[in-house]
This record gives sequence, C-alpha cells and structure tokens, in this order.
Amino acid sequence: GKGAAMVTAVAYRLAMQHAERQRILEPLRLGREQLLEVKRRLEEAMEQGLAKETHQQASLKMLPTYVRATPDGTEHGDFLALDLGGTNFRVLLVRVRSGKKRSVEMHNKIYSIPQETMQGTGEELFDHIVQCIADFLEYMGMKGAVLPLGFTFSFPCQQRQLDQGILLRWTKGFKATGCEGEDVVTLLKDAIRRKEFDLDVVALVNDTVGTMMTCGYEDPLCEVGLIVGTGTNACYMEEVRNVELVEEDEGRMCVNMEWGAFGDGGELDELCAEFDRVVDESSNNPGKQRYEKMISGMYLGEIVRNVLLEFTAKGLLFCGKPTERLKTRGIFETKFLSQIESDRLALRQVRSILQHLGLTSSTCDDSILVKEVCGVVSRRAAQLCGAGLAAVVDKVRRNRGLEHLRITVGVDGTLYKLHPHFSGILRETVLDLAPGCEVSFLQSEDGSGKGAALITAVACRMRDAAKH
Ligand code: GLC
Repeated sequence: GKGAAMVTAVAYRLAMQHAERQRILEPLRLGREQLLEVKRRLEEAMEQGLAKETHQQASLKMLPTYVRATPDGTEHGDFLALDLGGTNFRVLLVRVRSGKKRSVEMHNKIYSIPQETMQGTGEELFDHIVQCIADFLEYMGMKGAVLPLGFTFSFPCQQRQLDQGILLRWTKGFKATGCEGEDVVTLLKDAIRRKEFDLDVVALVNDTVGTMMTCGYEDPLCEVGLIVGTGTNACYMEEVRNVELVEEDEGRMCVNMEWGAFGDGGELDELCAEFDRVVDESSNNPGKQRYEKMISGMYLGEIVRNVLLEFTAKGLLFCGKPTERLKTRGIFETKFLSQIESDRLALRQVRSILQHLGLTSSTCDDSILVKEVCGVVSRRAAQLCGAGLAAVVDKVRRNRGLEHLRITVGVDGTLYKLHPHFSGILRETVLDLAPGCEVSFLQSEDGSGKGAALITAVACRMRDAAKH
C-alpha cells in the first residue's frame, strides 16, 4: 500500500544520496596499481635529482647534506641547537656525554614567531631568532658563553659543506623577503654580529637529517629519516658515487630528498582530485610542493574543508547551508582531524568538535559523514607517503645488491604522532609495496634539535682530531 511506497521512496532517496557521496569521494580513493605507479615515478624522480645532467630540471632536488658519519659515542660537550621550520621555534642546550655515562641531556624553550616576522624581511626574522638565543642563554644562566651551534632549518638548502646552505625557496607558509638565494648561515652570523655577541655556527641541518641521526644514536640500522608534520620530507643514506653533485666516490652520504616537491613536474596530475587543485591554487606557493599538499598536516584540513563544501553545495551536509566558518581557510588543524578520527570518540563528541569549530552540525548523519571524509583524506595521505617510503627503502636495497634488507626509519612530526591511523596505514602500505624490505619505525623524541646537536658534536670531534 501507501506505506510501502513511502518506505521505498525513502530507501531510494537514501541510496541516491549514498551514491552521490561515494561519487564525490571516489577520486580520493587510491588503488594498489595507482600506488605502485606513484612508487615507480618517485624512483624515477630520485634518479633525475641525483644525476648531474637532469638535476636542474628535476622536481626532487636530492640535496647533499655533507653528513656521512653517524655518532660513534665518543663525542661530548655542550652544544646549542636551533630548530626552525616545524610547528614551534625552539632553542636548545644539549649536553652530550661519552663513554660509560654516554647520554644526551636537553633543555629547551619554545619561542613564538609572530606572523609579521614570518612574512616580513629576512633581517627581522634573523634578528628575532638571535634575540631568542640571547634570551635563552640568559634564562640558562649562560650569558656570554660561546658554544658550537647546530641549526636545524627545515627548508630546502643547496649545501656545498656542512656549515653553509643556500635557501632554494621557502615552503610551508614562510615567506620572509631577502632570504631565497642566500646562504642562511651567513644570514644568521650577520644577525649574531649585529647583536654583538659570538657563536660558533658549525652545522646546518634539515629536520629529516636530525631525526635520522637521533634515531641512529640508538639504532645503527636507522638510515632513513621521515617527517610527517606541518610539511613532509625524507632523507636516507645514499652511495656517494650516486650523488653526482659531490665529486667523490667513496662511502655514503645522507641525501635530503625534499620529496614534498614531487609532482611539481606533473608526476601526480592524473592522481590529483579537484580538491587538490583548489588547495594548491589558494596556497602561498601555487604549483609547488604538490606531494606535500596531499600528505602533510598543513594541508589535509584544507582538503577536508573543500570536500565538505562540495557536500554542502550538493545538499548532502549541514542542511545544504555552508556557514561562514566553513568558508574560512585553515579552520581544520591537524589536531582536530586526529580527534575526529579517534575510535574512542563517540559521535556525540565528533558533533561537539564540529560545534567548537563553529560548524553547527544538526544531525548525527552529518557527524558520520564528516568522519568518513576525514578518514578517506588521511588514508590517502598515509598511502601516498607509504608509496614514497617504499621507493626509498627499495632503492637502498638495490644499491647494496641485496634481496632482503633490514632497515629502520626514524620518524617525527605531529601528524605521524597524533593521528590515530596514519602510522598504521603507512606501515601496511610499505609492507605491501616493498616486500623485499623489513622496515621498522622508530619515533624520535625531539629529533630535530637533538640531531642537530649530535651532528655538531661529530663535526667538532672530527675538527679536533684534524687539529691534533
Ligand atoms: C618542507 C621542507 C623540508 C622539511 C619538511 C618537513 O617540505 O621543504 O625541508 O624537511 O617540510 O618539515
């Protein structure tokens, strides 16, 4: 009768809505073949970045870091470290002890970098950094001490030696003027001079490299560093003979891949969804860091927000009415995504997070859908990252002519650490796509700052050895 017809109509409408939702999410779901293709293209891009002939045009810069040796436990002393380019700017004092009491002790303080400084002149930015160092030394009761300093600077730098590096370009929302194309160690030293004090800047270090070194201090199998935080990037130990920008043939050197720029040469075009294009175009650096924009914490929330806007426009969410909040860039921080996807959370709590974000979600269905969108976006991110990592470990395995490789990846970054599923999906993907490698993951605590100090310590040990 009439009742049955109504039920059928409702069922029909629900089925249509379901189909419509899935149609919108479809481009964000990746199959195994696609992931294998990402791995293959990344392998190709690595070769291009390493080779002298193709380096200039290559999207992966594969930058030499001049880090060859890992700590051997004999290094010791007090070091300063700076950590710029992640979620926080920090100054650290690191005490490294050798011998039986081998240990690393750290003190650090977080400083904020005001938005105006991040986007003002380079001189202002570096003056601010040096001001923070001065404050820190005073806070530690070490005013006037001249300590060796390691500078973790998490941006692409072309290095010709450990204590020098030209900033190729800003990433992740930084845009202070007058820095690109300049040696950042010189910029730092100039600012130190302006402040009329003295520090011995020994090493410029990418955060991936610092993370690898920190984990390498505990686990000698650690030969890859990975960051999945505000941005994403990886480094690994490459055979020097393959690093054609360095005129040497013996041994290994750590290479900073700058893999966030993968895709800038069109390698990911067929894989990108409309949402990726929108996020890219409305960013600080359109056309750049395309892989990073599909993976890291600074952008995932924006992808989610754009998907939700589309759902709302189609009348599938928030009663079809987009609020002003939903139209605001940057409302979904990594920590909210992580909370929404937490399995321990009841839908009621998802709803309250949405309300907190100013998204008055009226129905329970809305919460379910938002959670699904977050899940699809973060799964894709973890899979893409896994495909990249699979390419890296397989390259190391082939370099060494091995059928089977055991290797450890040192990892840091807020997304990796806070998200409830990211690390699991990443691991599964690597296992699936690089079956010849047995990969362990080691989370680093304070990796980038500690690593910079360890690299500085190794450099000082070698410098001292050369003197005697
Ligand atoms: C960006 C930077 C890179 C850094 C990564 C993680 O991709 O370009 O140098 O390692 O973010 O912080």
